[in-house]
Amino acid sequence: MINGIKLAPSILAADLSRLGEQVREAAAAGADYIHIDVMDGRFVPVISFGTPLVAAVRGITDLTLDIHLMIEEPERHIGAFMDAGGDIINVHVEACRHLNRVVQEVHARGKRAGVCLNPATPVADVEEILGELDQVMVMAVNPGWSGQRFIPEVLPKVEHLRRLIDGAGLAAEIEVDGGIGPEMAPAAVRAGACVLVAASAVFNDRASVTENMARLKQALAKVGEGA
Ligand code: DX5
Ligand code: ZN
Repeated sequence: MINGIKLAPSILAADLSRLGEQVREAAAAGADYIHIDVMDGRFVPVISFGTPLVAAVRGITDLTLDIHLMIEEPERHIGAFMDAGGDIINVHVEACRHLNRVVQEVHARGKRAGVCLNPATPVADVEEILGELDQVMVMAVNPGWSGQRFIPEVLPKVEHLRRLIDGAGLAAEIEVDGGIGPEMAPAAVRAGACVLVAASAVFNDRASVTENMARLKQALAKVGEGA
């Protein structure tokens, strides 16, 4: 946590042959959550991780596991991801017909519930349920891959959500996912984000996880100074 902002490294860009090491390094460097991107090849074109991977990461770290379900009919799978050790269960509003039921089921297990919005999805699609949510995730890329460019047009949506949440005194935290690095992290925070997901900016060949996390933290430390 830096300046009240949580960092959630996404293992989508990690070296999976050294996953334990990479997660431990991220944790030691100040990660608040480990973000796990679950893709089904239907909601998004590609397939990524499932419950065995979540269970493996659960065995490595005590950090909060932030599960990003980029899958159709997430209601069929949320129980399995909670069993595997997920702490925050995030479903896409575009993929889920019975959002309220999903949120109830997640809360009944004592877990946190999040809802994700694709770049073209309006805030109005979650407004009615905002008061029930622990987290709302704004996608700043079209979901499917790490390493894409941040779409700046989503920033007004983050600002809009921030106004709604603060105006009504709600608890939901705003998470921004996609294209976050030292360049865009400050803009996301200024717009109202308090949790930032980063895959390729944390796990890459250019520098160590520790160095990359330090760069992100440095960028965030300057936000309060008007950078
Ligand atoms: C995109 C995933 C993101 C992704 C972010 O579909 O939901 O979490 O891992 O990758 P970067 O940080 O490289 O944009
Ligand atoms: Zn994600």
